[in-house]
Amino acid sequence: MSERLVVIGSQWGDEGKGKVTDYFACRADMVVRYQGGNNAGHSVMFNGHKYSLQSIPSGIFNPNTVNVMANGMVVNPESVLVELDRLHAQGITDYQLYISDRAAMVMPWHSALDGAYENLKGGKLIGTTKKGIGPAYSDKYSRVGLRMGDLLEPEYFAERLQAALDQKNMELKMLGLPTYDFKEVYDRYMEIAKILGPRIVDTSALINKALRTPDKKILFEGAQGMMLCIDHGTYPFVTSSTPSSASVPVGAGISPKWINNVLGVAKAYCTRVGEGPFPTELHDHIAHEIRERGHEYGTVTGRPRRVGWFDAVVARYTSRLAGIDNWALMLFDVLSGLDKVKICTHYELDGEIIDTPPSTISKLARCKPVYIEMDGWKEDISGIKSYDELPEAAKAYVRKIEEVTEVPVGVISVGPDRTQTVIISEKLKEF
Ligand code: IMP
Repeated sequence: MSERLVVIGSQWGDEGKGKVTDYFACRADMVVRYQGGNNAGHSVMFNGHKYSLQSIPSGIFNPNTVNVMANGMVVNPESVLVELDRLHAQGITDYQLYISDRAAMVMPWHSALDGAYENLKGGKLIGTTKKGIGPAYSDKYSRVGLRMGDLLEPEYFAERLQAALDQKNMELKMLGLPTYDFKEVYDRYMEIAKILGPRIVDTSALINKALRTPDKKILFEGAQGMMLCIDHGTYPFVTSSTPSSASVPVGAGISPKWINNVLGVAKAYCTRVGEGPFPTELHDHIAHEIRERGHEYGTVTGRPRRVGWFDAVVARYTSRLAGIDNWALMLFDVLSGLDKVKICTHYELDGEIIDTPPSTISKLARCKPVYIEMDGWKEDISGIKSYDELPEAAKAYVRKIEEVTEVPVGVISVGPDRTQTVIISEKLKEF
């Protein structure tokens, strides 16, 4: 039977999933993205070069890996073309990439509407990436969306496009935004169909075949992080999909029984871009130090990320929701040099100690972190090759995270390069 691994972000996105996914993608026969779109920003470093991916799966650098953009994604075909052009310019020309015929498409008006809806919120922005992700998912669920497979049937596509434009142009007009001409859009998307058409297939069939093949290694690559989940995140400051392992079955078109190995990616501290409550957020010189050392600026938008201590309340919550088997503890080297480090174990809400996040952001905004403070370490750990080489204080920090989250740390990352990755879990060593 095949081996499976699901890699998900367990905080507010940007946990370093790109690096972990890339590490395992080198060994994978198939890499599947199952939710989100080009709002994700994965950067991958190897051989001294930096590559950035938005919607394309991280296995794209290995010519033997089959990369799948599955049905749960919202796919912006223009962005896929831009990403492919950029990869070609960097010498990445030999790859396998398939896109689901059932994946919803992000159309040009979706990003226009994303920006307009944000402006309508007055001061209360969600801080979206303005890539049109929310409007594209809304159209999918309102059943007026276009899907990648529609591109393969010109007459059907024309019918669906007309229906979508009838509605969207009315909406755009009301918002004072430019409308779209049917013929212009139709012609452009037929051009796109010529380029991407051969890659648009029933990816569920492709994945299921691989799942049934002995020794195939299949990696499911989550985007964003669990606290941005539309159901379980800090609503309404969330994205429009479910970044959990729980959305793999629907988003990839497979049975839930295949999911048995979930790696939750967590920074050794926390960051968040965009708005919304963030209980362990720091506003002092430590935040500045961590931000500069960890290069905490958004890959997609360049925005400075908000920085805070490791939040075990969030970690326990996301582990409960997504069945996390191991943590990948990222950017651990960034914490070196601090006198003291802190882990938030509980929140205090209106005088009461709680151990799980409340459902509303109004309550979450009132939560005060309850910390354990531990000694920091001064040593540079970016060159370590095994857990045993860590300074005692760093080991104690790892063990404390395991204790308060009740999940083992299976991977430690001590730098941006592939080689700066320590695999502790035996099961993950085998993948
Ligand atoms: P949207 O996904 O563009 O609708 O943005 C909704 C929220 O999710 C905003 O706070 C974004 O900053 C955040 N977000 C979306 N994608 C990512 C990501 O890949 N990393 C981190 N935050 C993200």
